Amino acid sequence: MADELVRRVLGLPPDQQSTSLLGGAGLDEVVTVLDLRAGRVLVDLACGRGGYGLEIARRSGCRVVGVDFSAVAIEHARRRARVLRLADRADFRVGELTATGLSAASADAVLVVDSLQFAEPLPDALQECRRILRPGGRVIVTCWEALDADDERLSPRLRQLDLGRQLPRAGFVDVEVVDKPGWRLAEQALWQEALTIEAGNDAAMRSMQDEAQRMLATFDGLRRVLATARAPHSTKVSPP
Ligand SMILES: C[S@@+](CC[C@H](N)C(=O)[O-])C[C@H]1O[C@@H](n2cnc3c(N)ncnc32)[C@H](O)[C@@H]1O
Repeated sequence: MADELVRRVLGLPPDQQSTSLLGGAGLDEVVTVLDLRAGRVLVDLACGRGGYGLEIARRSGCRVVGVDFSAVAIEHARRRARVLRLADRADFRVGELTATGLSAASADAVLVVDSLQFAEPLPDALQECRRILRPGGRVIVTCWEALDADDERLSPRLRQLDLGRQLPRAGFVDVEVVDKPGWRLAEQALWQEALTIEAGNDAAMRSMQDEAQRMLATFDGLRRVLATARAPHSTKVSPP
């Protein structure tokens, strides 16, 4: 019931699996910005059940490497890749946001959907993104940022995010952090509709309703952002 509600209100493809709040319009935008094609490698970091990376692989022809610290989520993603007949282009592994186990410069692009706030510590996860990206490769992060970092109603995890400062500090260039008010409105619609549903004994739906109460209570404190940046082509420092 919860999956169906998320897909419908956020405008996701009918068979898309999501454990986040990136909707159909956001996914289309991410696919456009990534500009991947056959032979390219996308790392979907904290991939959960693998839904976004697999959908991007399906649309673009790229390979996807999904990493998540949940072995259960990774097993689910592997099954899903087989169902979608993408197993030959998909590799799902258990790993950490801060330690993926992937080789340096092995990714053309890294995507982190609504998960960067879980990294401990957060700067190490950005360093890891940069390490696994080839020079010139692109990182895309969807997340939320606090309008006021001192707003104690918000979780410390979300209050630590400030990608406009943190991405350059991790050595990224061409950093852009863009507000996504339309995505935020879709989220609001999702939480509001979740609260109108008779959840009965559906544990996932009841948990979503608890989350909806919390999210709506602090809705005015966060902005939704799409951050993009590139790994530099060269880290050599020019002589003075
Ligand atoms: C909100 S879900 C998003 C999942 C997926 N990106 C999506 O959009 O459907 C957060 C994911 O982050 C994973 N996660 C949390 N902390 C992590 C960590 N330290 N290292 C790797 N994965 C982590 C969780 O297991 C979960 O799958």
